[in-house]
Amino acid sequence: MRDHVAMDKPTVPPSFDYSRIPAMPTSVFVAPLRKPAELSDDWLEPAQRKYGVEEHRIWDELYQRQIGLMPGHACREFMRGLERLNLGRGGVPDFKEMSEELRSLTGWSVVPVPMLIPDHVFYYHLANRRFPAGNFIRSREQFDYIQEPDVFHDVFGHVPLLTDPIFASYMEAYGRAGWKALKYNRLKALSALYWYTVEFGLILEDDQLRIYGAGILSGPTETVFSVEGRSPNRIHLNVDRVMRTDYTISDLQATYFVIESFRELFHLTEQRGFEPIYESLAPAFQYAKTAALDTDHIYHRGTQEYELRGGRGSGAKPA
Ligand SMILES: [Fe+2]
Repeated sequence: MRDHVAMDKPTVPPSFDYSRIPAMPTSVFVAPLRKPAELSDDWLEPAQRKYGVEEHRIWDELYQRQIGLMPGHACREFMRGLERLNLGRGGVPDFKEMSEELRSLTGWSVVPVPMLIPDHVFYYHLANRRFPAGNFIRSREQFDYIQEPDVFHDVFGHVPLLTDPIFASYMEAYGRAGWKALKYNRLKALSALYWYTVEFGLILEDDQLRIYGAGILSGPTETVFSVEGRSPNRIHLNVDRVMRTDYTISDLQATYFVIESFRELFHLTEQRGFEPIYESLAPAFQYAKTAALDTDHIYHRGTQEYELRGGRGSGAKPA
């Protein structure tokens, strides 16, 4: 049967195919990550590794230290997700069990990767509702700080919120946004958005600041500093502004961006085309990480004392 409606439709420009790993344009900067030879282009390991007794113990100790700080700091949806997935049952959680539960709630799963993976492969997994999690755990020497995302950061920090339907949709939309960022060569801008939301985001809950960012929730110092510290700015999220803002990779943040709800976050991003931003953006960041602008909606103007004293390694107290 002829489809009259389809025939009368204007030509729709081809959209991206999210079921395949996007091609990486040669002009785009790529971090020098070397894929282990035995893995395919999706970087997935065939199975979750079998952790030893000491490694399970490290998980348990990290979990115990962190869980006590969650009430009064972590947002409601995170707390609900933690309970739902029962991540404190002892030892590194089993990815298969966790994925079954997640799939029934929001269609997400957790998949093992050996290390940090390239941006375009990361986007591909997120766009298909797979969360790549580190297939290793930090050693006791790295107990307090590890720069590379290990299984504790990835599972404890990120996975609970994947049980929330709106946040789960945001994460998928973020992955899809990667295709356009690649086309415009604006990965840094999109990374800043991830950094200031998924990793270091704050949310207002009954007028109280709470945390939803995984980078904060997986460590004790920043859990307190981000919400209670005098030093950092706390500013309402503005996507155009955030995409122009530099960030700190290996220390506490100088600025946190605050949302009112996950619904707001989803609307601020998903319903934006991003093209106008990408077209007007310079390749470098425009705003320093400590900046507080006249146009910002500022909840707290930070003293920046931690940053000004030199941050990590300087002996400055996070305050
Ligand atoms: Fe992370």
